[in-house]
Amino acid sequence: MMYNTLTAAEAAALINNGDVVGIGGFSSVGTAKAIPAALAARAEELHAKGEEFRVGLITGGSTGDQIDGALSRAKAVSFRTPFQSHKDMRAAINCGEVQYFDMHLSHVAQDLRYGFLGKMDVAIIEAADITPNGEIVLTTSVGITPTLVKSASKILIELNAHHPASIIGMHDLYEPANPPYRKEIPIYTSADRIGEATLKVDPKKVLGVVMTDMPDGIAPFTPVDAVTAKIGENVANFLLAELHRGIIPKEFLPLQSGVGNIANAVLGSLGECQDIPTFTMFTEVIQNSVIGLMKQGRISFASGSSLTLSDDVLQEVYKDYSFFGPKLMLRPQEITNHPELSRRLGVIAINTALEADIFGNVNSTNVLGQKMMNGLGGSADFARNAFLSIFTCPSVAKKGVISAIVPMVSHVDSSEHSVKVIVTEQGVADLRGKSPLQKAQTIIENCVHPEYKELLWDYVKMQTGKCHTPMTLTKALQMHIAFEETGDMRNAKF
Ligand code: COA
Repeated sequence: MMYNTLTAAEAAALINNGDVVGIGGFSSVGTAKAIPAALAARAEELHAKGEEFRVGLITGGSTGDQIDGALSRAKAVSFRTPFQSHKDMRAAINCGEVQYFDMHLSHVAQDLRYGFLGKMDVAIIEAADITPNGEIVLTTSVGITPTLVKSASKILIELNAHHPASIIGMHDLYEPANPPYRKEIPIYTSADRIGEATLKVDPKKVLGVVMTDMPDGIAPFTPVDAVTAKIGENVANFLLAELHRGIIPKEFLPLQSGVGNIANAVLGSLGECQDIPTFTMFTEVIQNSVIGLMKQGRISFASGSSLTLSDDVLQEVYKDYSFFGPKLMLRPQEITNHPELSRRLGVIAINTALEADIFGNVNSTNVLGQKMMNGLGGSADFARNAFLSIFTCPSVAKKGVISAIVPMVSHVDSSEHSVKVIVTEQGVADLRGKSPLQKAQTIIENCVHPEYKELLWDYVKMQTGKCHTPMTLTKALQMHIAFEETGDMRNAKF
């Protein structure tokens, strides 16, 4: 190999207090793991000696315990962007210890290139193989890695034996030029290949390679329950009706499906609906359910930025790579989430809301407007630009004391102008071509849990006939306030 080998501790020792560290990979997979864990140990050692040690942390998306977990527990992170889903990092953000800023995932690489995020000192990336001329075969994800290695002044590589070198060819690495030289991105179907299979890095920047053998460690999904199964069935029936009335073409359109338990369950239901033709995915995250549906012949191709699979499912993919390999492609998140491509391909986007309001605005991130959950992710990249943008959520949370449908969301991630359909286990609200009052009527009638319907009707009636949007400034957050004061939104009064 043309690069030096290092231990993880030696690699971590090359990172300085105040550095901005970029970690390649995406959605908790394909990220370097050993060096960040060693970096956390180094921070703890230095802190014990009374020395300052904190780094800025930029990733593609979420990471696992060795990164967001270990580094936040070690109090080694000054700022964090763009997405996380680890309980310890979430706690550090929510107590103000880590300065976090949320971003559209399609913007991260571009903002780095534009210089909006300042300097990038060190890129840490994971490789399945390093070719004789020093090019990198990435592992289970791409994220912002191609831009990271260009922006950073130093590069550290983890060569992870857990992934076979034979996955070369699964990645399609393409970076758009910056304006005014940018051209159209020539992808016309989910499976189009436009870039390189391997990542070229400047060998002079590579400080060394750490050898590892570590699985990604994706937690198994929560099994589908009655509520998530019903949401999935409602989405499938809605799409089927759109297909039958000719709104969705008979070839069907590529699907994007969000992250989390609900998204995984929804996709499972769609796959089971045999009246929906075999489809492709043009998505951000390829979760377990996609692999199951490929085996059943329901999904013919999936393009995404990560193979976010539990290790047993990933091993299945590797074992039968001649079947799965030609059906999978991993791209930079800037490409998977690109507005141009969602519009051109006519992606049907299905994402999950924490809460939605009766006018169709969606909050995917801030619990009660205050506490960060995970981040915006790519939900709004897709929602704004999709052929059809659907948001799903259970009608209530926390055993019914919270209604997911409220008079006004406590934080807006996707606005009523992007959100076309809301689906809960109660039913489907189609918001297309409706005024704010009509949206409120259809959402309350079709999506709200029976225990909250009357309350929301009372709210709407206060202003109906008096203004364009029937909202009451002094009462719009009354349900949130009732929850904060009494622990139950049902105690709100209008
Ligand atoms: N108020 C307070 N808490 C709420 C809530 C609300 N309105 N709605 C849900 N929750 C809680 C749930 O009770 C659950 O809490 P728990 O973990 O303590 O049980 C938690 O939020 C997660 O909800 P869950 O029902 O398990 O959903 P999920 O795993 O499908 O995740 C999101 C839902 C919204 C958090 C997740 O989809 C997300 O992070 N979305 C934003 C990013 C995104 O959409 N990316 C995809 C783009 S490709």
